[in-house]
Amino acid sequence: MSKIISGFSKLTKDEKLAWLSKNYLADNKLGISTLKKYWNKDEKLQKLHDEFIENTITNFYMPYGIAPNFVINGKTYVIPMVVEESSVVAAASLVAKFWSNKGGFKAEVISTNKVGHVHFMYGGSFEALQKYFNSKKLYLFEITEKITQNMRKRGGGILDIELKNQTDKLKNYYQLHVTFETKDSMGANFINSCLEAIAKGFEKDDIDIVMSILSNYIPECLVRAEVSCNVLDLVKQDAELFAQKIYQAVQIAQVEPYRAVTHNKGIMNGVDAVVIATGNDFRAVEAGAHAYASRSGQYKSLTNCSIENGVFRFWIEIPLALGTVGGLTALHPLSKFSLELLGKPTAKELMQIVAVAGLAQNFAALNALTTTGIQQGHMKMHLQNILNQLGANEHEKIAILNYFKNKQVTYNSAEETLSKLRLSQK
Ligand code: MEV
Repeated sequence: MSKIISGFSKLTKDEKLAWLSKNYLADNKLGISTLKKYWNKDEKLQKLHDEFIENTITNFYMPYGIAPNFVINGKTYVIPMVVEESSVVAAASLVAKFWSNKGGFKAEVISTNKVGHVHFMYGGSFEALQKYFNSKKLYLFEITEKITQNMRKRGGGILDIELKNQTDKLKNYYQLHVTFETKDSMGANFINSCLEAIAKGFEKDDIDIVMSILSNYIPECLVRAEVSCNVLDLVKQDAELFAQKIYQAVQIAQVEPYRAVTHNKGIMNGVDAVVIATGNDFRAVEAGAHAYASRSGQYKSLTNCSIENGVFRFWIEIPLALGTVGGLTALHPLSKFSLELLGKPTAKELMQIVAVAGLAQNFAALNALTTTGIQQGHMKMHLQNILNQLGANEHEKIAILNYFKNKQVTYNSAEETLSKLRLSQK
């Protein structure tokens, strides 16, 4: 209990570190010096990052990689990816190149509607409530006019406000179900501000407002991406078997939730990496994608596959709430850079790019899983990390990476080989 502190956020950064050091880092060998190593020397840049959240004490680096050769709707992209898993960018790059001479990826945005709710309790009759709602509906649009003004200029705004009776699920529970078009912004702040204003305008003595908040379930903000080619053009040898195995792997993920979760996790490896690189909210995207994968009542694959008349088709349908203006997109210099690298896409274009990154990642995973197994490629990429962990020098790294070119990598085998190499050099 003695370590409970009040007013921590008001301390300066140095005061915070001194408190941390005294109370929690007494036995920590790395201590504060590790934190300071990650401070940016450019004080203005550091301050910008400090102010993203409360109680910032350092920066946490993640690798920022790029995957070239993505052809999407005929345009070539270099896709930025922020991710720590060693094989993700390599897999994306391989698959991008693979499909680049087979027509590339085709992507289309199906819909862009977002949703939010005013959740409330009401004990009277539904008819009376409906009458009250009808009498107020226009007014609810009017009182949000100031908030929606700029968005309306850009072609967005509130699309509709509906009263929904949810009393079959929970006694006295109703909601105002509000749909939005937020154009190039993710729109979270805009939506929540509208909802709070609507709630205020709707409230009366017998209506008990519980909360007003957007929903991260956005089945109507949907994008589809696809690749296809003749089965025989897929690979040089055993193309039919190759196609069949990918097809079966997808079918398994359609019927077996244990597999579907891992299958979709692999998709999110690609999706999240681009979402983070462009300054978007990956938790929102994750929540929405998994909810969508469960929309039938059973958790299923987000990708699909067909083989018909000798044509292999592989596609994804995923809800994505993304922005290319507002939020962190222009504030974080690297998000801004990513968007410039992508040619300043609209939110719709970014939805297509992110869906493609997810589809590519899934293709890479299924290709590896149904042929060599995942560990071969994964451990090859991970060998570098193992060697760093074992403190190998540059000369040792080259020798060992070379040694494992055609051999299976495990932590133990890498450690043993390094020991042997060191012994032989004594
Ligand atoms: C690992 O991060 C992702 C995979 O497990 C995905 C999959 O199994 O499809 C390889």
